[in-house]
Amino acid sequence: MDSVFTTRNSPAPRGTVLVIDDTPLNQEILTEILGNEGYVLKFAADGESGLVHARQLKPDLVLLDLVLPGIMGTDVLAILKRELPETMVILTTAYGSEETAIKALRAGVNDYIINKRPFDADEVREVVKRAVTEAILRRENQRLQREVEMKNEQLAQNYAELQAAYERLKELDKAKASFFSMVSHDLRHPIAVAKGYLELIRTGKENLSEDTIGYVQVAEQEMRYIAEMVDDVLDLSRMDAGYYHIDQQPLQVTMLLNQVRAAFRAQAAQRHIALEIEQSKDLPLVSADALRLHQVLSNLIENALKFTPERGRITLSAQQSNGDVEVIVRDTGVGIDPGEHEKIFDRFYRIKRGEQVEDKGSGLGLAICREIIRLHGGKIWAESNLGKGAAFHLTLKVADS
Ligand SMILES: Nc1ncnc2c1ncn2[C@@H]1O[C@H](COP(=O)(O)OP(=O)(O)O)[C@@H](O)[C@H]1O
Ligand SMILES: [Mg+2]
Repeated sequence: MDSVFTTRNSPAPRGTVLVIDDTPLNQEILTEILGNEGYVLKFAADGESGLVHARQLKPDLVLLDLVLPGIMGTDVLAILKRELPETMVILTTAYGSEETAIKALRAGVNDYIINKRPFDADEVREVVKRAVTEAILRRENQRLQREVEMKNEQLAQNYAELQAAYERLKELDKAKASFFSMVSHDLRHPIAVAKGYLELIRTGKENLSEDTIGYVQVAEQEMRYIAEMVDDVLDLSRMDAGYYHIDQQPLQVTMLLNQVRAAFRAQAAQRHIALEIEQSKDLPLVSADALRLHQVLSNLIENALKFTPERGRITLSAQQSNGDVEVIVRDTGVGIDPGEHEKIFDRFYRIKRGEQVEDKGSGLGLAICREIIRLHGGKIWAESNLGKGAAFHLTLKVADS
């Protein structure tokens, strides 16, 4: 930047220069000196018209003659400083009146040039160039500063908006959390109460007829279906709201399969369905939420039980596959047409079959399974043909050792 001020041969900056001088000779000489320097050059012969030009032009620099007809140079200076504080002012003054020049400097003039009659061309060029450069730099500086201020303001505003949005989200989140606990309580509670009373009736002291006991049992079974459906719907709405959390821990698949089998053994035995486990040795631990995975396998086994006639077989197996652990629930039931393999994972989708198999349910089970497995980073799919039994495969990530 220094070079701009000091190198004599550097090109003069573009800028607007207004000369207020009543002496025609001075105007002529200054035109000669500054005419080819690249400035926009304007002249005024007295203070009044000088001010008019200045207001209109907003020049970078005014070269002001102190001694003027009419309004005094010092008054012009005061007005310029007040009205156009950005404009640089250089005083041109006659030889021998340095004292006035110094006074003027105190009054806010940026520089002065002594007119040695004639002007020293080099001095004029240098002083003018310095002043115009400074004016332009100042202007540029101010522009940048304004820009920075605007950007800062914008940033502050963006930040405030973000913060407000975040606060709103937090509120929503709280509302969501309390909504789910409220809904699940309000829906589950009456079901639990009704179930309790039904059980009380069935096991109470009163002598009930066989028929009545049968009715009560049907009512109890229906209550169980409602309770399951409420749980399913709540699970799915939690998932949709991003409010369904899974807690993945290293888990032994073998242990989980044994647990699930134990939970369904009685039910399977009742229908004379064999429930077996088949697994390869030395399976690595998987990264899974034991409870959620239990839920998935339970859904699959419930389906298998539902769609497998008596004396069939359900096999749970686990094996390594492409770096994952693959769990398969296979049955010898009615099977699924390949055209339905994807659709059965849709919410509420149920295949319409005759009345040959027990067919109750909401059509939400597999949709929940898929979501839970997806949240684990795995995949779940069906492999089957009509009448050939069905196999549900799912993959799980191996736990980091
Ligand atoms: N093991 C299976 N064998 C035959 N069909 C099945 C099996 N599992 C699921 N399906 C079909 O997929 C549909 C959707 O299953 P699901 O989402 O669990 O709902 P739901 O059990 O409530 O009907 C079932 O209605 C059934 O038609
Ligand atoms: Mg089901």
